[in-house]
Amino acid sequence: MTRFTWSQKTRHTLQSPLRLLATAMALSLGMAAFSQAADIATAMVKVDDASFKCMRQMTPVRHFYVDNLLGEITATLAAANAPKGAPYPAGSVVQLVPTEAMVKREAGFSPATGDWEFFELSVSEQGSKIGKRGFAEVNNRFGKNCFACHVPAREPWDFVCESDHGCEAIPIDHKMTGALQRSDPRCGAATPESGDTMALLKLRAMVTLGATIGWFKSLF
Ligand code: HEC
Repeated sequence: MTRFTWSQKTRHTLQSPLRLLATAMALSLGMAAFSQAADIATAMVKVDDASFKCMRQMTPVRHFYVDNLLGEITATLAAANAPKGAPYPAGSVVQLVPTEAMVKREAGFSPATGDWEFFELSVSEQGSKIGKRGFAEVNNRFGKNCFACHVPAREPWDFVCESDHGCEAIPIDHKMTGALQRSDPRCGAATPESGDTMALLKLRAMVTLGATIGWFKSLF
């Protein structure tokens, strides 16, 4: 009994430094993996306020615009124009309206969202400011979740909804999105087409109504 206790004690005293060593090793391995992940993240697709520009300086595809922060615009265009859909390459920026953007981060960055990061921007003559950014948790200014709306287009359209990729329709038509693109304040003077003023008025009324309803609901 005494001997047993003794050996237990010895084992314990021997094990403590070993356990400590193992913990230290695990921790440093963890730290190394963490800093490696951070390196990959920052080294590859860096996104800040300056990554976003006047929408009309991006490349038009049908009714939306694309860009590539890594200079791979040809690969982005190939994906956007693939008749049966294709994964967009890292660095791709996709925008339908000046204040919302999707940016394709490096492979493995966020598997659930197909490595897309969602952005809500404020834009002015001075440029762009990132309001919100992130993956599955980002909501638009009406409290609706970007990812939840875009997820039906996951396969084979890589989360890009357009009009017929399975996403629930939004009450904003291409006349309105076109008017928003033509009046992007980052581009200098607006280049309105006939009907733009009406489309923007209609949109503004919808936004006000949407915001009022949201505010009203939040009281209950
Ligand atoms: C209510 C659902 C809904 C929400 C919420 C939503 N989207 Fe969309 N989004 C759509 C639909 C539908 C389209 C396609 C509209 C069209 O072209 O007819 C679209 C289009 C886009 C496009 C152009 C490329 C494409 O998919 O057609 C981008 C970029 C985009 N949304 C980003 C965002 C971001 C960023 C957020 C969050 C801040 C967001 N969206 C929130 C439904 C939504």
